[in-house]
Amino acid sequence: MRVYLDNAATTPVAPEVVEAMLPILKDNFGNPSSTHFFGRNAKALIETSRRSIAAHLKCQTSEIIFTSGGTEADNMAIYTSIHELGVKRIITTTIEHHAVGHTVEGLLKDGLIELTYVKIDAKGHVDLADLERLLQENKPTLVSLMHANNEIATLLPLKKVVNLCHQYNAYFHSDTVQTMGHYLFDLTDLGVDFITCAAHKFHGPKGIGFLYINKKNKVGAFIHGGAQERGLRGGTENIYGIVGLAKAMDLAYEDVEGHQKHVQSLKTYMMEQLNEAFDDIYFHGETDPERSLYTVLNVCFPKTAKAGMLLFTLDLKGVAVSGGSACSSGAAKGSHVLEGILADMNRPNVRFSFSRYTTKEEIDFALKQVVSVFEKNLV
Ligand SMILES: Cc1ncc(COP(=O)(O)O)c(C=O)c1O
Repeated sequence: MRVYLDNAATTPVAPEVVEAMLPILKDNFGNPSSTHFFGRNAKALIETSRRSIAAHLKCQTSEIIFTSGGTEADNMAIYTSIHELGVKRIITTTIEHHAVGHTVEGLLKDGLIELTYVKIDAKGHVDLADLERLLQENKPTLVSLMHANNEIATLLPLKKVVNLCHQYNAYFHSDTVQTMGHYLFDLTDLGVDFITCAAHKFHGPKGIGFLYINKKNKVGAFIHGGAQERGLRGGTENIYGIVGLAKAMDLAYEDVEGHQKHVQSLKTYMMEQLNEAFDDIYFHGETDPERSLYTVLNVCFPKTAKAGMLLFTLDLKGVAVSGGSACSSGAAKGSHVLEGILADMNRPNVRFSFSRYTTKEEIDFALKQVVSVFEKNLV
């Protein structure tokens, strides 16, 4: 048996998504910018997909700009706010995904922004009083804070932060890559300036996502070229990906509460079983279901001789997991997120991440393999 519990890195493509994409790969080869029949067909597919996505998120179609995924969307939000909206300072945390963290570090190095890190607590929650104190400095500011942390699951109270930022005339971008397709969004009510999406985190294809730009923010090109995506992102569109993204979102939101209930019950079960089997175990980040992403569980195991090469051993035993984000799991350097919350870096940790397709049998198999590494028993 082989189980996949690394769904925060990426998810398997839903069969219905494959079904939706295949005929387009076969037959719809037109360039959406061409004015003839083939081009018009391709263009229609993009606009139908955009309408469907906008309807799910309760926003306008013109507010959705397709990108190659989460990284590009994060970069677009940040660069655009500097080049087009006059932002001079960015407030963020040390535990953002590298798509944000490395981008703002680069901008600081180039002398384009002032960079300030807001305080976070040991579970990765943002100190909102500190954020307010920073916002009072009254400079043209973009606040960039992720909705859910991909390594430690900590959730941000999105609406509260939007309101706080707007009270002090700051723009607010949230990396919602881990929550899009997993929670409902009403973007008209939320009023956020920018949020991001990557289809491959909710059973869509890789290489496609979007940036939502609130219509009140008038911005120009991020990628210069043709007039695609209202002139903001030049380049022939990824039609297959866009259709796959829209289908993946339909499926995700068909029964989002059901998916949440199912996945949260698996996560709770896994926590209970681990707590029973180990007396020296804890979880990184937040685990309270109200304040934590239900698809992610980051376990801090005891440091024993058996725990060396834990990820490798689990892989050999048929359990695919990671130590942190996929980008850093192969690197010798430890997780910047765990460092950021001042976790004990000497103890081994494993990030288990689930999807709506994960079964209790798979969790039981993974638990059995995990306890066997430590020569423990399940109850
Ligand atoms: C929180 C977060 N932001 C951004 C990204 C990057 O998304 P993509 O792989 O689509 O570029 C990821 C993916 O790992 C992520 O987890």
